Amino acid sequence: MFALRIIIFITLLLLNYDLCSCQCPHAEYKIEKQCCPKCAPGNHVGWHCTDDTSTTCVPCPPLTFTDEPNGLVECFPCTVCDANQGLRLSEVCTRSSDTVCGPLERFYCIKEEKGSCTLAVQYSECNPGQYIKQAGTGSTDHVCANCTGDTYSNGSFSSCLPHTKCEAMGLAETNPGTHSSDSECGDPPTAVAIIASSVIVTLLLITVISVLIFKHIREKKLSNSSGKLYSLIFVV
Ligand SMILES: *[C@@H]1O[C@H](CO)[C@@H](O)[C@H](O)[C@H]1NC(C)=O
Ligand SMILES: *[C@@H]1O[C@H](CO)[C@@H](O)[C@H](O)[C@H]1NC(C)=O
Repeated sequence: MFALRIIIFITLLLLNYDLCSCQCPHAEYKIEKQCCPKCAPGNHVGWHCTDDTSTTCVPCPPLTFTDEPNGLVECFPCTVCDANQGLRLSEVCTRSSDTVCGPLERFYCIKEEKGSCTLAVQYSECNPGQYIKQAGTGSTDHVCANCTGDTYSNGSFSSCLPHTKCEAMGLAETNPGTHSSDSECGDPPTAVAIIASSVIVTLLLITVISVLIFKHIREKKLSNSSGKLYSLIFVV
């Protein structure tokens, strides 16, 4: 019974070994039932090994790469960073490493593969009345937040600015501030009042004098005294 177990165990072991020997060791690749040494990163296979010779490896041609030991007869083409995908070159392709792409300015990455960005989109715009609470990074969008209280931002500020205090500058507020716009100031009220009132007083005076003169002219006309009328006009 024990002997049988041993035989089964050994059989399994041999079977297993046999299965394993179908595969090549880690540093070799299989080609036509034969194991050949792999080529180092940056190279590809020029000629497979034979019974007498080892693998012949050749460097990857320009704009191609292999980044792992391989039994490939051709290298992979280098990735091109596509501006239409919001990408720009971050690290150039070498024989042993693919291009690394990053997001364009004002873009952030939303898809990544093997440490290289494959798709980036533009930062969100904050609305007027909001400020950029947290500036976007290579992998995160802008974070917008509302202005509160007596402050404003047009959507591109990194903080809400306080409204201009017209009164404190001795000016009149001609337009109150909103969360998206500053208050607008005009001439101080006193100066406006002085100019307005003096204009009004002058106009009033001219009107009153004119009315008086015409009244006088009429009365004089009625009494048929034209000579005195002229003298009155000269006096005025
Ligand atoms: C920001 O303001 C908008 C409109 O003024 C409002 O709809 C929204 O709920 C506010 N957001 C927050 C987080 O308070
Ligand atoms: C907001 O104001 C800044 C500076 O005043 C200006 O450069 C920018 O173009 C404005 N942005 C918008 C969206 O109006």
